[in-house]
Amino acid sequence: MEMGLKGKRVLVVASSQGLGKAIAELFVREGANVMLASRNQDRLKSVQSQLEEFRQGKVGMVTCDITQPDQIQHMVDETVKEFGGIDILVNNAGGPPAGGFEEIDDDAWQAAFELNLLSYIRIIRATLPYLKEDGGRIINIASSSIREPIPGLILSNTFRMGILGLAKTLADELAPFHILVNTVAPGRILTDRISQLDEINANKKEISKEEIKKRAEERIPLGRSGTPEEFAKVVVFLASEANTYMTGSSFFVDGGKLRSV
Ligand SMILES: NC(=O)c1ccc[n+]([C@@H]2O[C@H](COP(=O)([O-])OP(=O)(O)OC[C@H]3O[C@@H](n4cnc5c(N)ncnc54)[C@H](OP(=O)(O)O)[C@@H]3O)[C@@H](O)[C@H]2O)c1
Repeated sequence: MEMGLKGKRVLVVASSQGLGKAIAELFVREGANVMLASRNQDRLKSVQSQLEEFRQGKVGMVTCDITQPDQIQHMVDETVKEFGGIDILVNNAGGPPAGGFEEIDDDAWQAAFELNLLSYIRIIRATLPYLKEDGGRIINIASSSIREPIPGLILSNTFRMGILGLAKTLADELAPFHILVNTVAPGRILTDRISQLDEINANKKEISKEEIKKRAEERIPLGRSGTPEEFAKVVVFLASEANTYMTGSSFFVDGGKLRSV
């Protein structure tokens, strides 16, 4: 199947590790020009050099804290300066802290709103003039909590649902410009974030991290966690020219874990 990604100009946000990094790598392998962005310059440089061996187009990098509006504008300006435009935006971010309702104060609510929802809104606003030029794709990375809230992750459960409302509305508003908007939700994909959450749960339950992982994987019909590469394949397909008719939808990469249909 022809993905039509050669020469496409892609901004992958939060791509210095984990899901974002795997997504960036797959776009690079498909011949796209890819801009890496996150806060940690050293990690970005390391990813950029790791991607060098698969590179057909350009791989740029820009440091950006997506909770800062001026840095978002800088990230988008740099992408356009490097590539001449943007065809595909992958919105991604770090996860908010774990915790239940009574552990979370106003500052934590505000910070999670800015990191996990307002950043997506601001990045879409800043990239939209370029996406409109020739049609494009917006992929928002969320969490399986958009369908089934996860105990102990109230910040994630709350703001990721906002991504859904945003994406569905934008799918309507941007369809006349041939911009397709979709959301991809990971279940349990092995990255640093999952390792940290396992550690928190292990301490809380006073059992080992290995036991937490084992129990979590027993609840997944496929019997294992996913890999970042498995997740990236879905994102890259939705962002490609092979997807011409899916917009306003959510896709779950979860090994069958969700019980709702
Ligand atoms: N992995 C899973 O199974 C899973 C499941 C459900 C939801 N999710 C969610 O999916 C997203 C990605 O997950 P992941 O597993 O890849 O997480 P991860 O390994 O923790 O990576 C997070 C990425 O976000 C970047 N980042 C964090 N804060 C940022 C900021 N303020 N500005 C710019 N970049 C920032 C980090 O780079 P820098 O440190 O360089 O900024 C890093 O590249 C997270 O929101 C996570 O909660 C993941």
